[in-house]
Amino acid sequence: MDNREYSYFQAFKQIARTANSPLPLKSVLNAAAKSAAKGLKAAGCSIMLLNPQKEYLDVISAYGLSDLYIRKGVLKANKSLPEVLNGELVAIFDFAQDERTQYPDAAEMEGISSVLAAPIMQKGEVIGEIRIYTREPRQFSQVDKDFLTAVANIVAVSLEKNELYQVLKTEHEETVTKRRKLVETPKLPSSSLRPSSFGHPSEQEFAKLLDFYRIEWLHEPRSFPLAWQDGKVVEMFTPDFYLPELDLYIELTTLKQSLITEKNRKLRRLRELYPDISIKLLNKSDYLRLLAKYGYGGLGGTKVKGVDRVLFSHTQIQRRVKALAKRISHDYMGRKLVLVGILKGVMCFMADLMQHITLPLNVDFMSISYYGTNNESAVKITKDLDISIAGLDVLMVEDIVDTGMTLNYVLNHLAAHNPASLHVCTLLDKRVRRLVDVPLDYIGFEIPDEFIVGYGLDYHGEYRNLPFIGMLKPELIEEEGKK
Ligand code: IMP
Ligand code: MG
Repeated sequence: MDNREYSYFQAFKQIARTANSPLPLKSVLNAAAKSAAKGLKAAGCSIMLLNPQKEYLDVISAYGLSDLYIRKGVLKANKSLPEVLNGELVAIFDFAQDERTQYPDAAEMEGISSVLAAPIMQKGEVIGEIRIYTREPRQFSQVDKDFLTAVANIVAVSLEKNELYQVLKTEHEETVTKRRKLVETPKLPSSSLRPSSFGHPSEQEFAKLLDFYRIEWLHEPRSFPLAWQDGKVVEMFTPDFYLPELDLYIELTTLKQSLITEKNRKLRRLRELYPDISIKLLNKSDYLRLLAKYGYGGLGGTKVKGVDRVLFSHTQIQRRVKALAKRISHDYMGRKLVLVGILKGVMCFMADLMQHITLPLNVDFMSISYYGTNNESAVKITKDLDISIAGLDVLMVEDIVDTGMTLNYVLNHLAAHNPASLHVCTLLDKRVRRLVDVPLDYIGFEIPDEFIVGYGLDYHGEYRNLPFIGMLKPELIEEEGKK
Protein backbone atom coordinates (compact mmCIF):
# COMPACT_ATOMS: atom_id res chain seq x y z
CA MET A 1 0.00 0.00 0.00
CA ASP A 2 1.48 3.37 -0.93
CA ASN A 3 1.29 6.47 1.21
CA ARG A 4 -1.83 7.92 -0.35
CA GLU A 5 -3.77 4.66 -0.23
CA TYR A 6 -2.79 4.27 3.40
CA SER A 7 -4.16 7.74 4.18
CA TYR A 8 -7.45 6.74 2.54
CA PHE A 9 -7.57 3.57 4.53
CA GLN A 10 -6.94 5.40 7.81
CA ALA A 11 -9.62 7.97 7.01
CA PHE A 12 -12.11 5.33 6.00
CA LYS A 13 -11.48 3.31 9.14
CA GLN A 14 -12.12 6.43 11.22
CA ILE A 15 -15.38 7.24 9.44
CA ALA A 16 -16.70 3.68 9.68
CA ARG A 17 -15.87 3.52 13.38
CA THR A 18 -17.74 6.75 14.18
CA ALA A 19 -20.68 5.75 12.00
CA ASN A 20 -21.07 2.58 14.04
CA SER A 21 -20.72 4.36 17.39
CA PRO A 22 -23.56 5.59 19.59
CA LEU A 23 -22.57 9.20 18.86
CA PRO A 24 -25.35 11.53 17.69
CA LEU A 25 -25.79 11.94 13.96
CA LYS A 26 -24.32 15.44 13.99
CA SER A 27 -21.03 14.15 15.41
CA VAL A 28 -20.94 11.27 12.96
CA LEU A 29 -21.37 13.65 10.04
CA ASN A 30 -18.79 16.10 11.38
CA ALA A 31 -16.30 13.27 11.79
CA ALA A 32 -17.03 12.06 8.26
CA ALA A 33 -16.49 15.54 6.81
CA LYS A 34 -13.22 15.95 8.65
CA SER A 35 -11.83 12.51 7.82
CA ALA A 36 -12.91 12.81 4.19
CA ALA A 37 -11.04 16.11 3.84
CA LYS A 38 -7.97 14.73 5.60
CA GLY A 39 -8.02 11.47 3.68
CA LEU A 40 -8.10 13.33 0.38
CA LYS A 41 -5.55 15.85 1.69
CA ALA A 42 -8.05 18.55 0.81
CA ALA A 43 -8.74 21.90 2.50
CA GLY A 44 -12.39 21.34 3.26
CA CYS A 45 -15.48 19.24 2.98
CA SER A 46 -19.21 19.83 3.17
CA ILE A 47 -22.16 17.48 3.46
CA MET A 48 -25.49 18.71 2.14
CA LEU A 49 -29.02 17.34 2.09
CA LEU A 50 -31.80 18.10 -0.35
CA ASN A 51 -34.99 19.51 1.13
CA PRO A 52 -38.09 17.31 0.70
CA GLN A 53 -39.17 19.17 -2.46
CA LYS A 54 -35.66 18.69 -3.87
CA GLU A 55 -35.25 22.39 -4.58
CA TYR A 56 -32.53 23.42 -2.14
CA LEU A 57 -29.38 22.02 -0.59
CA ASP A 58 -28.99 22.39 3.16
CA VAL A 59 -25.45 22.25 4.56
CA ILE A 60 -25.67 19.88 7.51
CA SER A 61 -21.98 19.47 8.21
CA ALA A 62 -18.76 21.12 7.11
CA TYR A 63 -15.06 21.03 7.83
CA GLY A 64 -12.27 23.47 6.99
CA LEU A 65 -14.56 26.09 5.45
CA SER A 66 -15.21 29.57 6.79
CA ASP A 67 -18.59 30.38 8.26
CA LEU A 68 -18.99 33.03 5.61
CA TYR A 69 -18.48 30.45 2.87
CA ILE A 70 -20.80 27.86 4.42
CA ARG A 71 -23.53 30.48 4.74
CA LYS A 72 -22.93 32.18 1.41
CA GLY A 73 -26.60 31.97 0.49
CA VAL A 74 -29.39 29.60 -0.53
CA LEU A 75 -27.98 26.76 -2.63
CA LYS A 76 -30.42 25.98 -5.41
CA ALA A 77 -30.33 22.33 -6.41
CA ASN A 78 -30.62 23.09 -10.12
CA LYS A 79 -28.00 25.86 -10.06
CA SER A 80 -25.21 24.22 -8.14
CA LEU A 81 -23.55 21.24 -9.85
CA PRO A 82 -26.90 19.85 -11.06
CA GLU A 83 -25.33 16.64 -12.43
CA VAL A 84 -24.62 15.41 -8.92
CA LEU A 85 -28.34 15.34 -8.28
CA ASN A 86 -28.73 13.04 -11.26
CA GLY A 87 -26.47 10.62 -9.43
CA GLU A 88 -23.21 11.57 -11.13
CA LEU A 89 -19.83 12.21 -9.58
CA VAL A 90 -18.52 15.63 -10.61
CA ALA A 91 -14.91 16.81 -10.61
CA ILE A 92 -14.20 20.47 -11.33
CA PHE A 93 -10.67 21.71 -11.90
CA ASP A 94 -11.35 25.45 -11.77
CA PHE A 95 -14.37 25.87 -9.51
CA ALA A 96 -14.60 29.70 -9.46
CA GLN A 97 -14.61 29.83 -13.27
CA ASP A 98 -17.08 27.00 -13.81
CA GLU A 99 -20.60 27.90 -14.93
CA ARG A 100 -22.06 25.19 -12.69
CA THR A 101 -20.89 27.12 -9.62
CA GLN A 102 -23.70 29.18 -8.08
CA TYR A 103 -21.51 31.51 -6.00
CA PRO A 104 -18.21 31.92 -7.91
CA ASP A 105 -17.22 35.10 -6.02
CA ALA A 106 -17.57 33.39 -2.66
CA ALA A 107 -15.47 30.47 -3.94
CA GLU A 108 -12.79 32.88 -5.15
CA MET A 109 -12.69 34.71 -1.81
CA GLU A 110 -12.47 31.41 0.04
CA GLY A 111 -9.49 30.43 -2.12
CA ILE A 112 -11.08 27.30 -3.50
CA SER A 113 -9.50 25.85 -6.63
CA SER A 114 -10.89 22.39 -7.33
CA VAL A 115 -13.98 20.54 -6.17
CA LEU A 116 -15.00 16.92 -6.16
CA ALA A 117 -18.68 16.15 -5.46
CA ALA A 118 -20.38 12.80 -4.94
CA PRO A 119 -24.11 12.10 -4.61
CA ILE A 120 -25.51 10.66 -1.37
CA MET A 121 -27.99 8.01 -2.42
CA GLN A 122 -30.74 6.25 -0.53
CA LYS A 123 -32.88 3.55 -2.15
CA GLY A 124 -31.69 4.62 -5.59
CA GLU A 125 -32.61 8.25 -5.00
CA VAL A 126 -30.27 11.17 -4.50
CA ILE A 127 -30.90 12.77 -1.10
CA GLY A 128 -27.84 15.01 -0.91
CA GLU A 129 -24.18 15.31 -1.72
CA ILE A 130 -20.71 15.48 -0.26
CA ARG A 131 -18.14 17.93 -1.60
CA ILE A 132 -14.39 18.15 -1.22
CA TYR A 133 -12.56 21.46 -1.74
CA THR A 134 -8.87 21.98 -2.48
CA ARG A 135 -6.76 25.12 -2.40
CA GLU A 136 -4.33 23.85 -5.06
CA PRO A 137 -5.74 23.09 -8.51
CA ARG A 138 -6.09 19.32 -8.74
CA GLN A 139 -7.01 16.66 -11.27
CA PHE A 140 -8.84 14.07 -9.17
CA SER A 141 -7.76 10.46 -9.73
CA GLN A 142 -10.01 7.42 -9.93
CA VAL A 143 -8.91 6.46 -6.41
CA ASP A 144 -9.93 9.92 -5.13
CA LYS A 145 -13.34 9.44 -6.70
CA ASP A 146 -13.79 5.91 -5.39
CA PHE A 147 -12.86 7.06 -1.90
CA LEU A 148 -15.41 9.89 -1.89
CA THR A 149 -18.12 7.58 -3.25
CA ALA A 150 -17.42 5.16 -0.39
CA VAL A 151 -17.67 8.00 2.15
CA ALA A 152 -20.96 9.12 0.57
CA ASN A 153 -22.30 5.60 1.07
CA ILE A 154 -21.38 5.52 4.74
CA VAL A 155 -23.01 8.92 5.22
CA ALA A 156 -26.17 7.57 3.55
CA VAL A 157 -26.24 4.58 5.88
CA SER A 158 -25.76 6.83 8.93
CA LEU A 159 -28.65 9.03 7.83
CA GLU A 160 -30.86 6.02 7.24
CA LYS A 161 -29.99 4.59 10.62
CA ASN A 162 -30.99 7.89 12.22
CA GLU A 163 -34.20 8.06 10.21
CA LEU A 164 -35.12 4.54 11.16
CA TYR A 165 -34.55 5.38 14.77
CA GLN A 166 -36.79 8.45 14.46
CA VAL A 167 -39.55 6.38 12.84
CA LEU A 168 -39.34 3.73 15.55
CA LYS A 169 -39.56 6.46 18.15
CA THR A 170 -42.63 8.11 16.64
CA GLU A 171 -44.33 4.76 16.07
CA HIS A 172 -43.86 4.01 19.71
CA GLU A 173 -45.32 7.38 20.67
CA GLU A 174 -48.25 6.71 18.41
CA THR A 175 -49.17 3.39 19.96
CA VAL A 176 -48.96 5.05 23.35
CA THR A 177 -51.39 7.77 22.37
CA LYS A 178 -53.40 5.31 20.28
CA ARG A 179 -53.15 7.44 17.23
CA ARG A 180 -53.78 6.07 13.81
CA LYS A 181 -50.77 5.00 11.87
CA LEU A 182 -49.92 7.65 9.36
CA VAL A 183 -50.31 6.55 5.80
CA GLU A 184 -47.16 6.94 3.81
CA THR A 185 -48.34 9.51 1.27
CA PRO A 186 -47.84 12.36 1.34
CA LYS A 187 -44.42 12.44 2.93
CA LEU A 188 -43.80 14.39 6.08
CA PRO A 189 -40.82 16.72 5.85
CA SER A 190 -40.07 16.29 9.49
CA SER A 191 -37.55 18.62 11.02
CA SER A 192 -36.26 15.78 13.16
CA LEU A 193 -34.88 14.14 10.03
CA ARG A 194 -33.04 17.28 9.16
CA PRO A 195 -30.04 17.37 11.43
CA SER A 196 -29.55 21.09 11.74
CA SER A 197 -27.77 22.44 14.75
CA PHE A 198 -30.37 24.68 16.28
CA GLY A 199 -28.83 27.25 18.56
CA HIS A 200 -31.90 27.56 20.74
CA PRO A 201 -34.98 25.42 21.54
CA SER A 202 -37.22 28.17 20.14
CA GLU A 203 -35.61 27.59 16.73
CA GLN A 204 -36.52 23.92 16.87
CA GLU A 205 -40.04 24.88 17.87
CA PHE A 206 -40.33 27.38 15.05
CA ALA A 207 -39.08 24.74 12.57
CA LYS A 208 -41.75 22.34 13.83
CA LEU A 209 -44.42 24.97 13.41
CA LEU A 210 -43.26 25.66 9.86
CA ASP A 211 -43.31 21.93 9.16
CA PHE A 212 -46.82 21.67 10.53
CA TYR A 213 -47.97 24.30 8.07
CA ARG A 214 -45.76 22.80 5.35
CA ILE A 215 -43.89 26.01 4.86
CA GLU A 216 -40.50 25.42 3.30
CA TRP A 217 -37.54 26.58 5.44
CA LEU A 218 -33.77 26.65 5.47
CA HIS A 219 -31.78 27.04 8.65
CA GLU A 220 -29.10 29.75 8.57
CA PRO A 221 -28.32 29.53 4.84
CA ARG A 222 -26.61 32.92 4.67
CA SER A 223 -24.29 35.15 6.69
CA PHE A 224 -24.28 38.84 5.92
CA PRO A 225 -20.97 40.66 6.49
CA LEU A 226 -21.69 43.90 8.37
CA ALA A 227 -18.27 45.41 9.01
CA TRP A 228 -14.84 45.14 7.46
CA GLN A 229 -11.31 46.05 8.55
CA ASP A 230 -8.39 45.95 6.12
CA GLY A 231 -10.56 44.03 3.67
CA LYS A 232 -11.42 41.40 6.26
CA VAL A 233 -14.90 40.76 7.63
CA VAL A 234 -14.94 41.62 11.33
CA GLU A 235 -18.67 41.47 11.97
CA MET A 236 -21.48 39.50 10.41
CA PHE A 237 -25.05 38.53 10.99
CA THR A 238 -26.65 35.14 10.33
CA PRO A 239 -30.46 35.14 10.43
CA ASP A 240 -31.94 31.96 11.88
CA PHE A 241 -34.23 31.02 9.01
CA TYR A 242 -34.94 31.70 5.38
CA LEU A 243 -38.42 30.98 4.00
CA PRO A 244 -38.00 30.64 0.22
CA GLU A 245 -41.73 30.73 -0.59
CA LEU A 246 -42.02 34.12 1.09
CA ASP A 247 -38.47 35.24 0.22
CA LEU A 248 -38.06 36.23 3.84
CA TYR A 249 -35.31 35.91 6.46
CA ILE A 250 -36.40 35.38 10.05
CA GLU A 251 -34.45 36.12 13.20
CA LEU A 252 -36.02 34.80 16.39
CA THR A 253 -35.51 36.70 19.61
CA THR A 254 -35.49 35.82 23.21
CA LEU A 255 -37.04 38.19 25.67
CA LYS A 256 -33.75 39.63 26.97
CA GLN A 257 -33.84 43.34 26.30
CA SER A 258 -30.05 43.74 26.08
CA LEU A 259 -29.89 41.17 23.27
CA ILE A 260 -32.81 42.72 21.44
CA THR A 261 -31.12 46.13 21.35
CA GLU A 262 -27.95 44.61 19.91
CA LYS A 263 -29.91 42.64 17.36
CA ASN A 264 -31.87 45.71 16.34
CA ARG A 265 -28.62 47.56 15.71
CA LYS A 266 -27.33 44.73 13.51
CA LEU A 267 -30.62 44.56 11.65
CA ARG A 268 -30.56 48.28 10.90
CA ARG A 269 -27.04 47.89 9.52
CA LEU A 270 -28.08 44.87 7.47
CA ARG A 271 -31.00 46.75 5.95
CA GLU A 272 -28.69 49.63 5.02
CA LEU A 273 -26.14 47.38 3.40
CA TYR A 274 -28.58 44.94 1.77
CA PRO A 275 -31.71 46.93 0.93
CA ASP A 276 -33.16 44.14 -1.27
CA ILE A 277 -33.27 41.62 1.57
CA SER A 278 -36.44 41.24 3.60
CA ILE A 279 -35.89 40.19 7.18
CA LYS A 280 -38.10 40.14 10.24
CA LEU A 281 -37.21 40.02 13.89
CA LEU A 282 -39.75 37.84 15.66
CA ASN A 283 -40.68 36.88 19.15
CA LYS A 284 -43.11 34.08 19.74
CA SER A 285 -46.36 36.00 19.52
CA ASP A 286 -44.97 37.83 16.50
CA TYR A 287 -44.40 34.64 14.60
CA LEU A 288 -47.86 33.31 15.24
CA ARG A 289 -49.16 36.60 13.89
CA LEU A 290 -46.88 36.36 10.87
CA LEU A 291 -48.19 32.91 9.98
CA ALA A 292 -51.72 34.25 10.27
CA LYS A 293 -50.87 37.07 7.92
CA TYR A 294 -49.79 34.63 5.24
CA GLY A 295 -52.99 32.68 5.71
CA TYR A 296 -51.50 29.90 7.79
CA GLY A 297 -52.19 30.66 11.37
CA GLY A 298 -54.62 29.90 14.09
CA LEU A 299 -54.88 33.61 14.79
CA GLY A 300 -56.26 34.44 11.37
CA GLY A 301 -59.78 33.71 12.57
CA THR A 302 -59.71 30.24 11.07
CA LYS A 303 -60.27 27.15 13.15
CA VAL A 304 -57.22 24.96 13.35
CA LYS A 305 -57.79 23.49 16.79
CA GLY A 306 -59.11 20.15 15.54
CA VAL A 307 -56.56 19.80 12.75
CA ASP A 308 -54.09 16.99 13.33
CA ARG A 309 -51.73 17.87 10.52
CA VAL A 310 -51.62 19.81 7.30
CA LEU A 311 -51.60 17.63 4.19
CA PHE A 312 -51.25 20.38 1.60
CA SER A 313 -50.22 23.95 2.29
CA HIS A 314 -51.77 26.91 0.57
CA THR A 315 -48.71 27.19 -1.70
CA GLN A 316 -48.79 23.50 -2.61
CA ILE A 317 -52.48 23.69 -3.51
CA GLN A 318 -51.98 26.81 -5.62
CA ARG A 319 -49.11 25.20 -7.53
CA ARG A 320 -51.16 22.10 -8.27
CA VAL A 321 -54.29 24.06 -9.26
CA LYS A 322 -52.24 26.13 -11.70
CA ALA A 323 -50.80 22.99 -13.28
CA LEU A 324 -54.30 21.49 -13.70
CA ALA A 325 -55.63 24.74 -15.22
CA LYS A 326 -52.75 24.76 -17.69
CA ARG A 327 -53.56 21.24 -18.90
CA ILE A 328 -57.27 22.02 -19.13
CA SER A 329 -56.55 25.23 -21.08
CA HIS A 330 -54.50 23.19 -23.52
CA ASP A 331 -56.98 20.32 -23.87
CA TYR A 332 -60.09 22.49 -24.35
CA MET A 333 -58.59 24.95 -26.83
CA GLY A 334 -61.23 26.02 -29.37
CA ARG A 335 -64.07 24.19 -27.59
CA LYS A 336 -67.14 25.39 -25.69
CA LEU A 337 -66.15 24.78 -22.09
CA VAL A 338 -68.60 24.73 -19.19
CA LEU A 339 -67.38 24.05 -15.68
CA VAL A 340 -69.98 22.40 -13.48
CA GLY A 341 -69.56 22.16 -9.72
CA ILE A 342 -71.52 20.78 -6.80
CA LEU A 343 -72.00 23.16 -3.91
CA LYS A 344 -70.59 23.90 -1.46
CA GLY A 345 -67.32 21.99 -1.07
CA VAL A 346 -66.03 22.91 -4.51
CA MET A 347 -66.18 26.68 -4.08
CA CYS A 348 -62.51 27.34 -3.29
CA PHE A 349 -61.22 24.94 -5.90
CA MET A 350 -63.61 26.21 -8.59
CA ALA A 351 -62.74 29.83 -7.87
CA ASP A 352 -58.98 29.24 -8.12
CA LEU A 353 -59.14 26.82 -11.04
CA MET A 354 -61.27 28.99 -13.29
CA GLN A 355 -59.06 32.02 -12.75
CA HIS A 356 -56.10 30.11 -14.16
CA ILE A 357 -57.88 28.69 -17.20
CA THR A 358 -56.96 30.87 -20.16
CA LEU A 359 -60.04 30.11 -22.30
CA PRO A 360 -63.50 31.66 -22.50
CA LEU A 361 -65.78 29.54 -20.33
CA ASN A 362 -69.08 29.29 -18.52
CA VAL A 363 -69.67 28.15 -14.93
CA ASP A 364 -72.71 26.58 -13.35
CA PHE A 365 -73.50 24.90 -10.05
CA MET A 366 -75.77 22.20 -8.74
CA SER A 367 -76.84 21.40 -5.21
CA ILE A 368 -77.60 17.96 -3.93
CA SER A 369 -78.74 16.56 -0.65
CA TYR A 370 -78.45 13.16 0.87
CA TYR A 371 -81.39 11.78 2.78
CA GLY A 372 -81.83 8.48 4.52
CA THR A 373 -84.85 6.20 4.48
CA ASN A 374 -84.52 3.22 6.78
CA ASN A 375 -81.50 1.28 5.52
CA GLU A 376 -81.14 3.14 2.27
CA SER A 377 -79.85 6.60 1.76
CA ALA A 378 -80.49 8.39 -1.48
CA VAL A 379 -79.17 11.44 -3.20
CA LYS A 380 -81.43 14.10 -4.63
CA ILE A 381 -80.79 17.17 -6.76
CA THR A 382 -82.06 20.22 -4.92
CA LYS A 383 -80.75 22.75 -7.44
CA ASP A 384 -80.23 21.87 -11.07
CA LEU A 385 -78.17 23.70 -13.69
CA ASP A 386 -79.31 27.14 -14.83
CA ILE A 387 -77.93 26.81 -18.34
CA SER A 388 -78.51 24.18 -21.00
CA ILE A 389 -75.44 22.04 -21.58
CA ALA A 390 -76.62 20.35 -24.79
CA GLY A 391 -73.78 20.45 -27.33
CA LEU A 392 -71.29 21.96 -24.86
CA ASP A 393 -68.06 20.50 -23.47
CA VAL A 394 -68.79 19.90 -19.83
CA LEU A 395 -66.01 19.56 -17.27
CA MET A 396 -67.36 18.40 -13.94
CA VAL A 397 -65.25 19.98 -11.17
CA GLU A 398 -65.21 18.12 -7.86
CA ASP A 399 -63.53 18.83 -4.55
CA ILE A 400 -63.13 15.21 -3.52
CA VAL A 401 -64.13 11.83 -4.87
CA ASP A 402 -64.59 9.31 -2.10
CA THR A 403 -66.85 6.31 -2.79
CA GLY A 404 -67.67 7.80 -6.19
CA MET A 405 -71.42 7.48 -5.62
CA THR A 406 -72.15 11.21 -5.77
CA LEU A 407 -70.12 11.71 -8.91
CA ASN A 408 -71.63 8.65 -10.58
CA TYR A 409 -75.14 9.92 -9.93
CA VAL A 410 -74.39 13.44 -11.16
CA LEU A 411 -72.56 12.22 -14.27
CA ASN A 412 -75.56 10.11 -15.26
CA HIS A 413 -77.80 13.10 -14.75
CA LEU A 414 -75.57 15.34 -16.88
CA ALA A 415 -75.08 12.76 -19.64
CA ALA A 416 -78.86 12.67 -20.14
CA HIS A 417 -78.70 16.34 -21.22
CA ASN A 418 -76.55 15.51 -24.28
CA PRO A 419 -73.35 17.48 -23.74
CA ALA A 420 -70.78 17.32 -26.56
CA SER A 421 -68.36 15.82 -24.06
CA LEU A 422 -68.27 15.08 -20.33
CA HIS A 423 -65.11 14.81 -18.25
CA VAL A 424 -64.11 15.10 -14.61
CA CYS A 425 -61.54 17.18 -12.73
CA THR A 426 -61.18 16.50 -9.00
CA LEU A 427 -58.81 18.17 -6.58
CA LEU A 428 -58.65 15.17 -4.26
CA ASP A 429 -58.95 11.49 -5.01
CA LYS A 430 -59.53 9.16 -2.05
CA ARG A 431 -59.02 6.18 -4.31
CA VAL A 432 -58.77 3.48 -1.66
CA ARG A 433 -62.41 4.09 -0.72
CA ARG A 434 -63.84 3.81 -4.25
CA LEU A 435 -67.03 1.73 -4.61
CA VAL A 436 -68.26 2.96 -7.98
CA ASP A 437 -65.71 3.12 -10.76
CA VAL A 438 -65.91 6.67 -12.12
CA PRO A 439 -63.46 7.93 -14.76
CA LEU A 440 -61.31 10.82 -13.47
CA ASP A 441 -59.53 12.85 -16.15
CA TYR A 442 -57.72 15.43 -14.02
CA ILE A 443 -56.60 14.70 -10.47
CA GLY A 444 -54.98 17.17 -8.07
CA PHE A 445 -53.77 14.89 -5.32
CA GLU A 446 -54.40 11.30 -4.37
CA ILE A 447 -54.99 11.09 -0.62
CA PRO A 448 -55.13 8.32 1.99
CA ASP A 449 -58.30 7.20 3.74
CA GLU A 450 -58.50 10.08 6.19
CA PHE A 451 -61.13 12.71 6.84
CA ILE A 452 -60.00 15.94 5.24
CA VAL A 453 -61.07 19.52 5.89
CA GLY A 454 -60.22 22.99 4.63
CA TYR A 455 -60.09 24.77 1.28
CA GLY A 456 -63.87 24.43 0.96
CA LEU A 457 -64.24 21.01 2.59
CA ASP A 458 -66.15 20.90 5.83
CA TYR A 459 -66.87 18.83 8.87
CA HIS A 460 -70.41 19.60 10.03
CA GLY A 461 -70.25 22.94 8.25
CA GLU A 462 -66.97 24.05 9.85
CA TYR A 463 -63.38 24.39 8.64
CA ARG A 464 -64.25 25.39 5.05
CA ASN A 465 -62.31 28.64 5.42
CA LEU A 466 -58.94 27.06 6.23
CA PRO A 467 -56.52 28.14 3.48
CA PHE A 468 -54.87 24.70 3.55
CA ILE A 469 -56.04 21.08 3.47
CA GLY A 470 -55.69 19.30 6.77
CA MET A 471 -56.51 16.05 8.46
CA LEU A 472 -58.89 16.14 11.39
CA LYS A 473 -57.80 14.68 14.71
CA PRO A 474 -59.02 11.08 14.64
CA GLU A 475 -60.44 11.42 18.20
CA LEU A 476 -62.82 14.09 16.94
CA ILE A 477 -64.39 11.76 14.42
CA GLU A 478 -64.26 8.69 16.62
CA GLU A 479 -66.09 10.51 19.40
CA GLU A 480 -68.68 11.39 16.82
CA GLY A 481 -69.04 7.76 15.82
CA LYS A 482 -69.88 6.76 19.40
CA LYS A 483 -72.76 9.20 19.63
P1 IMP B 1 -68.66 10.15 -2.47
O1 IMP B 1 -70.03 10.16 -3.05
O2 IMP B 1 -68.46 9.09 -1.44
O3 IMP B 1 -67.57 10.09 -3.54
O4 IMP B 1 -68.50 11.47 -1.63
C1 IMP B 1 -68.22 12.67 -2.19
C2 IMP B 1 -68.61 13.80 -1.26
O5 IMP B 1 -68.47 13.47 0.11
C3 IMP B 1 -67.69 14.98 -1.49
O6 IMP B 1 -68.16 15.83 -2.51
C4 IMP B 1 -67.64 15.64 -0.15
O7 IMP B 1 -68.69 16.56 -0.04
C5 IMP B 1 -67.87 14.51 0.83
N1 IMP B 1 -66.60 14.01 1.39
C6 IMP B 1 -66.00 12.83 1.15
N2 IMP B 1 -64.86 12.69 1.83
C7 IMP B 1 -64.71 13.83 2.52
C8 IMP B 1 -63.69 14.32 3.42
O8 IMP B 1 -62.66 13.67 3.72
N3 IMP B 1 -63.87 15.55 3.95
C9 IMP B 1 -64.98 16.32 3.65
N4 IMP B 1 -65.92 15.91 2.81
C10 IMP B 1 -65.81 14.68 2.25
MG1 MG C 1 -68.74 17.65 -3.05
